[in-house]
Amino acid sequence: MKTIVITGGTDGIGKGLGLHYLGRGERVIVVGSNPDKGRRFMEEAQAIGSGERAAYIQADLSLVAENRRVVAEIAQSHPVVDALVLAARFYRSTRHETAEGIEHNFALFYLSRYLFSHGLADRLEAGERPVILNLAGPGGDLSAMNWEDLQFTRDYRPDRIMSQCGKLSDLAGVGFTAAHPGTRIRYVLAHPGLTATGFAGDYNEADAALVAGMRDRGQPVDAAVGMLRRHLDNPDPEPLSAYMQHTKIDVDGAPFDPAAARRLANITQTVLFGSGQPA
Ligand SMILES: NC(=O)c1ccc[n+]([C@@H]2O[C@H](COP(=O)([O-])OP(=O)(O)OC[C@H]3O[C@@H](n4cnc5c(N)ncnc54)[C@H](OP(=O)(O)O)[C@@H]3O)[C@@H](O)[C@H]2O)c1
Repeated sequence: MKTIVITGGTDGIGKGLGLHYLGRGERVIVVGSNPDKGRRFMEEAQAIGSGERAAYIQADLSLVAENRRVVAEIAQSHPVVDALVLAARFYRSTRHETAEGIEHNFALFYLSRYLFSHGLADRLEAGERPVILNLAGPGGDLSAMNWEDLQFTRDYRPDRIMSQCGKLSDLAGVGFTAAHPGTRIRYVLAHPGLTATGFAGDYNEADAALVAGMRDRGQPVDAAVGMLRRHLDNPDPEPLSAYMQHTKIDVDGAPFDPAAARRLANITQTVLFGSGQPA
């Protein structure tokens, strides 16, 4: 039986993947912040006869301390993790800092993914065919990186933030494979295509209208799950691969520049530790 960890597994695509793998007899641990969603996930798992293989961990993954707590809890109780799906997200029309003083998107969309992937790497190495699936929007131009102000203290614009989140994930993937030379873990970046999900967020009126339209036009979650599961079942042989829906993207091109990944890794160390200590 495989063990699959899904951040943001209580709603949308993460939840769809969770229920799919429970239905196939695997063990699934989902993490989300809202206990009502967690309870619903567990009820649905029970309803398909998989309750004893499902687990919900409640945590606000925008907090570094909470990521560390949950990673330690999973590592403590699971010597092997076969797959890690990174799907937590929360849209914000206006800038918000966490109680730890970190801009919310940078914390949830980037630092959480960083902490989970590096923090569970040795548990993943113990898996038979381990994979990290980072759901984002790979392949965008590096100019989306707001290097001088990654946490957008000035000129907060959600569209720019979203583009940067895609880039942060790309560079996180490059950085992960560089930090784990010879790893057996396959790191897959994937954009599932517009999908009608919860679109968790705090929206102003204009953004709420936009998102309502996206929900109407999006494919069903099952279609996204059908597209993504191949990356978990049968990942490409390269350490890092990227997909825009079904189309493979070249990860040796400029958007995946190793020097940019090193620059981000250094900044990350400073944000997390105040100096260049290991994750
Ligand atoms: N849907 C699309 O069209 C689309 C397109 C491209 C890429 N993607 C990517 O696919 C992934 C999944 O998207 P989705 O649309 O399925 O998302 P979604 O339905 O909005 O669900 C987001 C998940 O993140 C969790 N979450 C939000 N804030 C959290 C926090 N502070 N701590 C812990 N968990 C938190 C939510 O649970 P709680 O509310 O309980 O916290 C929920 O489980 C995301 O990475 C997204 O960028 C989606």
